[in-house]
Amino acid sequence: MDRSKQKMIMAMGFVAFFVMAITGFLPLIMGAKVLSGWWMILHATAAPVFSLLLAVGALLWVRSEGMGLKDGAQNKCTKKAAWAFLILFIPNALSILFSMNAWFPSSTQHTFLSVHFYTAIGLCLLVLLHLNFSRKNKG
Ligand code: HEM
Repeated sequence: MDRSKQKMIMAMGFVAFFVMAITGFLPLIMGAKVLSGWWMILHATAAPVFSLLLAVGALLWVRSEGMGLKDGAQNKCTKKAAWAFLILFIPNALSILFSMNAWFPSSTQHTFLSVHFYTAIGLCLLVLLHLNFSRKNKG
């Protein structure tokens, strides 16, 4: 796959992430206690698109930049932020998955929802860091 297609997938992944962040946080900022209605539909519809783009984007990124922090052209901080994002996405996705079925008591489901919320904040911060570091990388 050529570089321009890889860039396009990454850009689509960023757009999908912003849709996730906006549909997740905006209703709460506007005073809702939980996601519901169109916000929930948009958030849940964008989730598989985002997950797929993230998985494909991560594979392409590792292929071009390598696994190690010293491999590839990107600086260490950019790569650390990207790895931290990929690792933090695991509890973010699993927590909401576990909160939505009846395997756990409702108090644990609430804890899972909090894990989803706080890991989502972490993901937003890491995206900001990543954008900041990769901008500096370009000189
Ligand atoms: C696999 C990907 C994801 C899925 C399947 C997913 C699904 C959901 C669902 C179903 C809810 C509603 C839970 C409820 O009210 O009971 C929710 C809430 C939320 N999501 Fe996601 N989400 C995903 C990724 C993300 C990402 C990447 C972000 C932001 C960066 C995010 C931010 C939020 C926020 C802020 C809430 C509200 C939490 C709260 O009410 O305390 N989500 N998500």
